[in-house]
Amino acid sequence: MSPPIDFELRRRTLLAGTTATALAAGLPRSGAAQTDSAPTPAGPDSSTVKLTVNGEQREVTVDNRTTLLDALREHLQLTGTKKGCDHGQCGACTCTVNGARVNSCLSLAVMHDGDEIETIEGIGTPETLDPMQAAFVENDGFQCGYCTPGQIQSARAVIEEIRAGIPSHVTGDLTAEIAITDTEIRERMSGNICRCGAYANILAAITQVAEESA
Ligand code: FES
Ligand code: FES
Repeated sequence: MSPPIDFELRRRTLLAGTTATALAAGLPRSGAAQTDSAPTPAGPDSSTVKLTVNGEQREVTVDNRTTLLDALREHLQLTGTKKGCDHGQCGACTCTVNGARVNSCLSLAVMHDGDEIETIEGIGTPETLDPMQAAFVENDGFQCGYCTPGQIQSARAVIEEIRAGIPSHVTGDLTAEIAITDTEIRERMSGNICRCGAYANILAAITQVAEESA
């Protein structure tokens, strides 16, 4: 067996080589986020998109492959909408487009010319919280908080969807008014993952808002 100092040297050499290989291949280093950090000059592969974001007219020129999530975070500096998986699996990037919730990591910015976007920055302030934000605070509906903007955007949409009579997979009688039950809320919030496991308190917060606004 080699002495520990030799092993350490070889390990460092290996890691340095791996990083250099990844960079040469244009691959992200392990753990490094892929970002579209610089504004993109207009060109054949880019588009200028006009959006109404939180009530304000905004215009961005983006590479045509830029997601709505990256347009919000990297071009408009609205970093409240989070990037978790970037694959439509965690719900951290949830925002609303024309009143409907979407996973913004799965939608290209160029698809939203003229659309109205609402992000977590647009629904309340530290001094005047949205009722759902206040309920999350009151019920300890978060721990690290990373999933929370997406949870709150989905939670607000869930109540609206139920009241609009939109059925879910667990809705029983499709002819009756849909009750806002724990089962309905859990099903409709199932696309929002919380790695801290704050689910019970998130459910309590949503139930509280639903009852207070009934
Ligand atoms: S970042 Fe969009 S679903 Fe996870
Ligand atoms: S509060 Fe940490 S991931 Fe949900």
